[in-house]
Amino acid sequence: MSGSGAGGDGAAAPRRRTVLLSGLAGAGAGVAAGVGGALAAERPAPSPDTRLAAGRASARAFRGTHQAGILEAPPAQAAFVAFDLHEQADGDAVRRLLTVWTDDIERLMAGRGTLTDLEPELAAVPASLTVTVGVGPRVVELAGAERPDWLAPLPAFPEIDALEDAWGEGDLLLQICAESPTTVAHAQRRLTTSVADLASVRWVQRGFREPFEGPGIPMRNLLGQVDGTVQPDVTGLDADLLWVGADGPAWLRGGSSVVVRRIGMRLDAWDRADRAARENAIGRRLDTGAPVTGGTLDSAADLEATDELGFHVIDDAAHMRRAHATAPHERFLRRPYSYDDGVEGGGMRTGLVFVAFQADPARQFVPVQRRLAQADLLNLWTVPVGSAVFAVLPGAGSGEVLGQAMFA
Ligand code: HEM
Repeated sequence: MSGSGAGGDGAAAPRRRTVLLSGLAGAGAGVAAGVGGALAAERPAPSPDTRLAAGRASARAFRGTHQAGILEAPPAQAAFVAFDLHEQADGDAVRRLLTVWTDDIERLMAGRGTLTDLEPELAAVPASLTVTVGVGPRVVELAGAERPDWLAPLPAFPEIDALEDAWGEGDLLLQICAESPTTVAHAQRRLTTSVADLASVRWVQRGFREPFEGPGIPMRNLLGQVDGTVQPDVTGLDADLLWVGADGPAWLRGGSSVVVRRIGMRLDAWDRADRAARENAIGRRLDTGAPVTGGTLDSAADLEATDELGFHVIDDAAHMRRAHATAPHERFLRRPYSYDDGVEGGGMRTGLVFVAFQADPARQFVPVQRRLAQADLLNLWTVPVGSAVFAVLPGAGSGEVLGQAMFA
């Protein structure tokens, strides 16, 4: 591969999580209260009790151009819930469902119970709750709106896929994220029961990340790797990679798409690999997350570097080399969560809920996934068992209902 070296070419230059975190203030999707910025250095550090209270009370803004839950640094807990509309559902049912969810989500994110909430006390801890709504092709068709070509199952990747229907496409998706597992569970239950006459749960994928993530404390997946380092600058120059623009259907402008792939990990086999093999699989060190070509976490990887025998230092099949964009549009925002559902019947119950947001998955995501399916050392230890694609609705402005433009 003749990669120009990560960072060597401007368009595909790596933007790191720290950039993402620090660039959020102007993002317009709602930012948690309490981000101290430069002022923090001048004030005495808050006591642990104060920080805990602030974290529990932290509420994100619901209304805006884009839905919340995409640009924010991912909170520690998440549930991805896919729904099937009942068979007899029509456009009116979709409209009713989205009206109910709009009101429910606005209340829950603000720390208030839903209209029919029997446990509003559980809603009183918003803990940075965000709920992000996605829709599948059936919803778009029932609403009478134009379906983007990419709103369909991804092409098959027979080299790697072991997909189970249980984790397949649905009519609707809720991505529910918060710092508190209780908050996530409560929101999931309220949002499920309030539309029970219209839709049923198809699958739930629970996920978690490191609760103390932030600059200097990166996300680690369950293979122990620092994950999410190289990201496009979606709050700046690369915003077009994330949001549907004028070339997409009018009802989806300001929206996005999400690919949710459930990827199992063969941890037993991983345990048998030595450290050199593990680092070689990605092309990054396990301790610092830095490229094996040297430097620190934020250093650009040198994809051209060779060893004394003339072989690439970053293996030709290393995950980061194979996943690296070969054209500027082959990039997307990764927002993955780990899952660990225990050991049952010897099956693989641990892995990554791989979540990618982009304006057009066919153009941006599929070429990368195809390359990884063809060759990626990581495939020795990972198996995709679920795959689904949803259109992420634009944000709801003042007085608007989520997805209302679909009915225009
Ligand atoms: C269980 C499955 C996976 C694991 C454990 C994993 C892990 C990692 C790790 C540790 C890195 C290096 C650090 C970073 O930049 O984040 C990385 C990079 C990356 N991964 Fe994955 N990954 C997985 C699946 C995928 C999939 C399915 C895709 C897309 C189809 C993907 C796309 C990327 C991209 C675009 C990069 C950045 C490459 C660059 O340096 O330019 N990954 N991944």
